[in-house]
Amino acid sequence: MKKKFINIGLIGYGTVGKGVVKILEENKKIALRKVGKAICIKSICDLNPIDKPELYVKNFKDIIKDPEIDLIVELIGGYEPARTIIIESLKAGKNVVTANKAVLAKYWNQIFTTAQDCQKSIYYEASVGGVIPVVQGLSEGLASEEILEIKGILNGTTNYILSEMTKNGVSYETALKNAQVAGFAEADPSFDVNGIDTANKLAILSSLAWGSWIKVKDISVKGIADLNIEDVLITRDFGYDIKLIGCAQKTKNGIDLSVQPCLVNHENAFATVENEYNAVMIIGKDSGDVLFYGKGAGQQPAASAVVSDIINVSKFIVTNTAGIVSDVIYDKKKKIKILPASKSKASYYLRFSVLDKSGVLAKISGMLGKHKVSIASLSQPDISGNDYARIIIITHETCRENIEGALKQINATKSIVKSKTVKIKIEI
Ligand code: HSE
Repeated sequence: MKKKFINIGLIGYGTVGKGVVKILEENKKIALRKVGKAICIKSICDLNPIDKPELYVKNFKDIIKDPEIDLIVELIGGYEPARTIIIESLKAGKNVVTANKAVLAKYWNQIFTTAQDCQKSIYYEASVGGVIPVVQGLSEGLASEEILEIKGILNGTTNYILSEMTKNGVSYETALKNAQVAGFAEADPSFDVNGIDTANKLAILSSLAWGSWIKVKDISVKGIADLNIEDVLITRDFGYDIKLIGCAQKTKNGIDLSVQPCLVNHENAFATVENEYNAVMIIGKDSGDVLFYGKGAGQQPAASAVVSDIINVSKFIVTNTAGIVSDVIYDKKKKIKILPASKSKASYYLRFSVLDKSGVLAKISGMLGKHKVSIASLSQPDISGNDYARIIIITHETCRENIEGALKQINATKSIVKSKTVKIKIEI
């Protein structure tokens, strides 16, 4: 039967949901030209009544069982009932668009197995990098590639906070408040600042790249909440910016997965990525470096990515081919080797606060050397007026277990150490 319209059931009418409705109304002609049929919102489900009472549905189950609805757009976020909505929608023969990175990262296996079994599509561009078409770029644009590495600034809130600290010299707490005022950080920004949001996105991109479910628990995660403005200012003078970077790198001993604050040289492409912008670098064996850049947070960028997904999946719904070929080539039996975090290699910035007396530097360099950590450069900025010295060391590349072993020993030497040593990875 020929379709007159593509009917959408929208579940979740918050910031992004409202943006989606607005773009679909304003860009009606663009969507019609691309799909060949009008895209209509038939129902909207939300916990509370909405400003479009004629479309309002209180129970999401009524949307899932509506035979006229072709496509369900899940925008409620969180794990439940989002997971149930996605799974039940696929089983009911609906295609799905979602922006929910948390549910995808946690239930990748179940969601994509169900989509494959039901031969339905699930599109999720807005789950990673806001408006940046990195999911499509990775799965289609770079379909031929053996992916060697994915690294990116994948969280707009933390990037906004770090930009504020670097540009304006404000503390972490002030920068977080500024991000909330600017409308980027959530009332509860813990998933952003503790790195979990970035880890969810990295898990999604890595699972896509390597065709196997890479779990958040495989990723070593450190957020930005304990970052000291002192280190932001010192490293800025050394020619670095601090960015929260998610990195997945293929090594001969497994995939090395981490999320952590990193120092990037002012010349590095990531250094120019400021405020709510995100950037993702994908390195393929034949492609070399491919860089994606755009707004990673905010209502309209996220809504724009959702509407692009709606348009793209609608093209297949019109021809009855949505989900016939899997969107995610995923083999649930394939096991991928993960490099233990202790074996991850990097060079580091270290800031020691130690007693200012003879023999201290020798002790520190001795303990670093004992753990096979080699010093690339060392400086002791003059902070006269203090009874302690600030020693800055940049190391050569070393295994994480070496640097952590050395710092454990140094920090435990209470006779010379005034406060815990700061360690930040240097991103090349
Ligand atoms: N909280 C997310 C961010 C929104 O700040 O990037 C987009 O996923």
